[in-house]
Amino acid sequence: MDWGMKNRLNRIFKPEDGHTVMLACDHGYFLGPVSRLEDPRKTIEPLIPYADALMLTRGVLRNCIDAKYNIPIVLRVSGGNSIIGKDLSDEGITVSMQDALRLGVCAVALSIYVGAEHEHQTLVNLGKLINEAGDYGVPVLAVTAVGKELEKRDVRYLSLSCRIAAEMGAQVVKTYYCEDFEKVVKSCPVPLVIAGGPKMKSETDVLEIAYNAIACGAKGVDMGRNVWQSSKPIAMISAIRSIVHEKASAQKAVELFNSLKK
Ligand code: R5P
Repeated sequence: MDWGMKNRLNRIFKPEDGHTVMLACDHGYFLGPVSRLEDPRKTIEPLIPYADALMLTRGVLRNCIDAKYNIPIVLRVSGGNSIIGKDLSDEGITVSMQDALRLGVCAVALSIYVGAEHEHQTLVNLGKLINEAGDYGVPVLAVTAVGKELEKRDVRYLSLSCRIAAEMGAQVVKTYYCEDFEKVVKSCPVPLVIAGGPKMKSETDVLEIAYNAIACGAKGVDMGRNVWQSSKPIAMISAIRSIVHEKASAQKAVELFNSLKK
């Protein structure tokens, strides 16, 4: 692996423990002004000191995040779909590598939709992006997207999707936590981070999932809604950090959340 690619990955995954707390704020690319992200700057800025990397679109990056921040950027470069459109899997590559480099990103991110109508198109997109990004030493994060079919998130489906993403050459894979998650980790030869999905019933549920994922071998989280839709986003991301970077148990993280939320 070339120096540039290694360095970008080391900026995202902290070399001290190889883990990362990525903050996902790219939802607007197909959801528009999703709840609590109506004003991206207001939501994201206070969380920047607690995140190891930000995952977002070039529109939000350029317009809502000051260039003064020294935070690694994982740029969403796929899209072309919307929540009210025919099929969420109908995505293409929407950002050139030149523009990604102009923005100084540490990685580019694209969704694949295994088993969906546009499976082939999204996998070919991934291969193309890996070829192009590789020319410049930029890692690719593949997101194993399920669209509206949240019930797809089981060990069989996620193992299949993650492994395909890794086989295609993605340097990092973002997926969901599921029962028997260690099987997903074992069969995927590149680092995995987990999304949170729609807001869960309680912060405890989120912290338990984060704990279990790390215990099974995930290298971090790339969560969005369960952080910034929480009534106490800073307490929430701090509690997640304690699991990812300080080996806190789920119980300890819940205690930390409760003490910080006051
Ligand atoms: C999809 O909207 C994006 O890839 C998100 O970045 C991803 O789903 C993670 O965010 P959340 O934790 O809200 O699911």
